[in-house]
Amino acid sequence: MMTYNSSTAGFGPIDLLSPDYCQDPHPWLAAARQRGSVLYAPSLDLWMVLGYEDVRDVLMRPSEFSSAGTSQDPVVPLCESAEEVLNQVHLDTAPTISSSDGEGHARLRSAFVRTLSPKRIAIMRERAKLDASNLAAAMHDSCGFSEFISHFASPFTSEAIFSLIGFPRNDHEHLRRWCHDRLMLTWGRLDDAGQVAAAKGLANLREYCKAFVEDRWVFGTGDHLVDDLVQLSRANPDKLGKSEVVAIISSLSFAGHETTARLLGNIVLLLGTTAGTWARIATDPGLAPLAIEEALRLEPPIFAWRRKTTRVCRLAGTTIPAQATVLLSIGATGRDPAVFEQGPKFAMETASRKHLAFGRGIHSCPGASLARAQAAEALSVLSRAFPTLNLVSKTPPWTSNLSFRGPSALWLEW
Ligand code: HEM
Repeated sequence: MMTYNSSTAGFGPIDLLSPDYCQDPHPWLAAARQRGSVLYAPSLDLWMVLGYEDVRDVLMRPSEFSSAGTSQDPVVPLCESAEEVLNQVHLDTAPTISSSDGEGHARLRSAFVRTLSPKRIAIMRERAKLDASNLAAAMHDSCGFSEFISHFASPFTSEAIFSLIGFPRNDHEHLRRWCHDRLMLTWGRLDDAGQVAAAKGLANLREYCKAFVEDRWVFGTGDHLVDDLVQLSRANPDKLGKSEVVAIISSLSFAGHETTARLLGNIVLLLGTTAGTWARIATDPGLAPLAIEEALRLEPPIFAWRRKTTRVCRLAGTTIPAQATVLLSIGATGRDPAVFEQGPKFAMETASRKHLAFGRGIHSCPGASLARAQAAEALSVLSRAFPTLNLVSKTPPWTSNLSFRGPSALWLEW
């Protein structure tokens, strides 16, 4: 459980990983923000940052608030058996883009960004149109009811990113499972048996990505994203090492769809709970980009992200010690009344890109335009295919974890 220092006296403790909090964290976050923008949570030993300006400030000070290791370290310590499972995989796990700093980060990021050319994004957009139509048609065949996350959001986004990378189709199903294992091991609270099972999934993912890159190293002549990285690494090993290619592929398989799938769930939920908005999109799909930005503001799929202080830092009048873990509460920033007058209201007419859902500064999301394009195509296809879509329940279950936010199941009827 979470307790507070004197600056939060009188404000109730909360367990940030409890199902209740994960179901609806917003009332607590709003009340917490009124007491100050920076809070210390002793149970997880981290400093929460809640205000828009302060989260942005941290993102723009990468030399003080480091990314090293932050995207991969489990928030809950692993039990010995789970550690053993991971240690048995003797892999040279190089830092990836999101968990590196300085020159190393700039080098990895520029190698990756080259692979996301406008041409490739245009191809992905066309593919998204087709995939969305096929999945919507399959939903249509299911007698007026469907569970949206497993039948649309997850396959739509994972197939896209796995194919972009170049993973063979037969492997997609277990890759999806392993990515989920990775998410829960890093950001969730599992019991020992759950940790061991998820550690096996993560070990499988790492081994698979290593073997996959080795294979493309020897035989690869294709035009997938992995082939671009392999070619760059073979030609310029000092710009990109082989183990770094493995690390990028492994983290991309996860970052590229666990986020966008949740965005789709969040959009459909927000539209389904805001009277008249689904019908407006169905009549005018040109409104889809506004709905997407508003969903990103209100329920960002990366709800919280970490940094580590490299020295004693001052933030919003608070002193944070060196080597402290800082939790950037992106989900709280989108409802900060000092910046967004519309607060918790889903207001497409005032939607903008001011939110921090894709971060800011040198680590800001390089996949943002792809995610936006995929979401726009999905929404436009869905609203045309199901003009009278309704939610079966307005309070669906949410995945319990510290960072990735979205309903775990969303039943729809039409
Ligand atoms: C709605 C979907 C998405 C959301 C909300 C999202 C959010 C974010 C955020 C907040 C960051 C910044 C993390 C930081 O500051 O440390 C980030 C980084 C990153 N994202 Fe995304 N992302 C999404 C989709 C994607 C996609 C589709 C891709 C790949 C095609 C991708 C690849 C990455 C990578 C490689 C980074 C690390 C960048 C760096 O550290 O320089 N993301 N994302």
